[in-house]
Amino acid sequence: MKKTAAALIVAAGRGTRLSDPDNREPKQYKHVAGRPILSHTLDAFLNHPRIAKIVTVIHADDASLYDAAVDATHFGANGKELLTAIGGDTRQQSVLAGLKALAITGCDFVLIHDAARPFVSEPVIDGSIAKLDEGAEGVLAAVPVVDTLKRSEEAGRQLRTIDRTGLWAAQTPQAFPFEPILKAHLKAADAGRHDFTDDTGLAEWAGMTVELSHGDPANFKITTRQDLARAETQVKQVPMTQEDQTRPRLSELSDVRTGIGYDVHAFEPGETVILGGLDIPHNMKLKGHSDADVVLHAITDATLGAIGDGDIGSHFPPSDPEWKGASSDKFQHDAIERLTQLGGRLAHIDVTIVCEEPKIGPHRQDIRQRLAQICDMPVERVSVKATTSERLGFTGRKEGIAALASVTVRLPFAKNE
Ligand code: CTP
Ligand code: MG
Repeated sequence: MKKTAAALIVAAGRGTRLSDPDNREPKQYKHVAGRPILSHTLDAFLNHPRIAKIVTVIHADDASLYDAAVDATHFGANGKELLTAIGGDTRQQSVLAGLKALAITGCDFVLIHDAARPFVSEPVIDGSIAKLDEGAEGVLAAVPVVDTLKRSEEAGRQLRTIDRTGLWAAQTPQAFPFEPILKAHLKAADAGRHDFTDDTGLAEWAGMTVELSHGDPANFKITTRQDLARAETQVKQVPMTQEDQTRPRLSELSDVRTGIGYDVHAFEPGETVILGGLDIPHNMKLKGHSDADVVLHAITDATLGAIGDGDIGSHFPPSDPEWKGASSDKFQHDAIERLTQLGGRLAHIDVTIVCEEPKIGPHRQDIRQRLAQICDMPVERVSVKATTSERLGFTGRKEGIAALASVTVRLPFAKNE
């Protein structure tokens, strides 16, 4: 039996950094795409099959704002139990209030999430629950730090560069088996600690081991006025849950087509190879005009092949400086957009990676998750395999990596077919 998971959404903050004298409601109740931010956040969990109940921690003054947010959700209760709890002065105290409310009816896992992150996606939630299913004590959705980091010794002066290897920016959800995180929170409160700004910080303090899962740069926290503007723009670009309903179902699309893709990139000295959108530490990197993600390139070619729409080079010529260093998920998003324009959807991806090193086995599951996230499809529809070439040929001599992909798409038949 699959374990039951609850979402605990903290929404009791006052949103002081986004205060507006003309529009006093806290940020989680401000509107994005015409409805409260909290309603988007609730929808992400209401629409997730593994979430059985949702406790929203609200401020005592906000009951009617909360009711309006629930009314504005697209999914309604969707068969799930919806609870509220009254929050405290700090985020940590609000989380504890939510955990106590959940303790009454019980659950196996809890995913603690900021109301102010309405862009949490199904693959991010899947990733957190998958690690709990595998026995993790704590799971942090996070994204690698991409900007170069500086520490200023005096205000704005005497800058020092900080090595960003191994640095991650924490997001939510932060997910835990229920009983241990409740115990950890009670222990922190007993110890007079009320200032943990996130739950994995508190869990680490309590001696729990926290694992990383894939966050998403799109899953940002709305904190400032600029963030609110970004959310309005992003809501138009990122397919949010309510729009997913308008996608044709796979079962309605009878024209099944397959494309193949193949790509090779050579090694050069470096620290990381990017495979299927995932950074893998290695003593080499892949050479290329873009980020040289050989796996995504093979998948994009296979996707374009399945719809008979040229290849990656015909849409993104390597001579074009615009694609220098480009992150290859852009290419795949473009191919998916072309497929969507035809009324079709991706049905399955199968990839084989050919190399002696790095070893793919330990990263296989993470690559699958990442590809599922990039392609907005369930992880069960993505397969990642790897092989060596028995030390033969260029891959055998460790000169580079090759990838082969087969992508199945489903399209509507044309009227006369
Ligand atoms: N939160 C909460 N209870 C608190 C403080 C914060 O439930 N006492 C929630 C917020 O509603 C938000 C999340 O924790 O969803 C993250 O906090 P933050 O972004 O800091 O929100 P606010 O505290 O509301 O904003 P600000 O710090 O700008 O006042
Ligand atoms: Mg705050």
